[in-house]
Amino acid sequence: MSLKLPKVIGHRGAAAYAPENTLESIHTAADMEVEWVELDVKLTKDEVPIIFHDDELDRTTNGSGRVAEKTYDEIRQFEAGSWYGESFTGIKIPTLEEAVDVLIERNLGLNLKIVPCHGREKETAEAALDILSQYWDDHTRLLISSFDPVSLETAQHMAPDWARGLLLAAEPQTNEMNPEWKNIADYLDVKTINLDTQIASRDVVDEVKELGYSPLIYTVNDPIEARKYQSWGVPSMFSDEPDIIIENLLTIH
Ligand code: G3P
Repeated sequence: MSLKLPKVIGHRGAAAYAPENTLESIHTAADMEVEWVELDVKLTKDEVPIIFHDDELDRTTNGSGRVAEKTYDEIRQFEAGSWYGESFTGIKIPTLEEAVDVLIERNLGLNLKIVPCHGREKETAEAALDILSQYWDDHTRLLISSFDPVSLETAQHMAPDWARGLLLAAEPQTNEMNPEWKNIADYLDVKTINLDTQIASRDVVDEVKELGYSPLIYTVNDPIEARKYQSWGVPSMFSDEPDIIIENLLTIH
């Protein structure tokens, strides 16, 4: 099945305009005529898949502590908007199911990024794919991505035909790409390699393409950078300001 990637994917919804990974952020992206959004999924203690990036609640909610140690009912007590702006006070952390409802209502494609808490790599992928398999029909507009090979392998076993993307960033120890990335990508049979801007050189992008993968780049908020990547043949990039990047890309695809 071929993947219909858009030129720009809204990062965590439209993270420059609304609190990341919330229903408001998804609606904001849809209002800007963004075609796809990227959202992060992880599990509560009682294994409810929620849309949330960090392992801890502190940065983006009024709660604190580890997500993996809170039940869904506890998570629901916190609000995830006031850290961003007063007008967003009271917003809740959405479940994956609630997010999927809005995505379908707003006709958006989805890059679901699996960000498992340590030790829950398989369970997180299983719970997320279980929800998606119940509600998501259009597999030309769905990409499952992760930094974690176990989560991607689980997705591969559960839904071999759904497109997978391997996320790559500079390794903290070496500041370079994992030297095993080609073997991992081959083993997991991914469609896309999602590169951090720090490692996305022209040579790396060319190599990714030569190996038959689509190179995607995150997170691109500068229109000049976006045009550079577009001229390298990058089909799609992630942005917190998707409206600005869309407006500044050439209509060449
Ligand atoms: O999926 C692209 C990007 O969101 C991955 O990195 O910074 O959000 O964890 P990050």
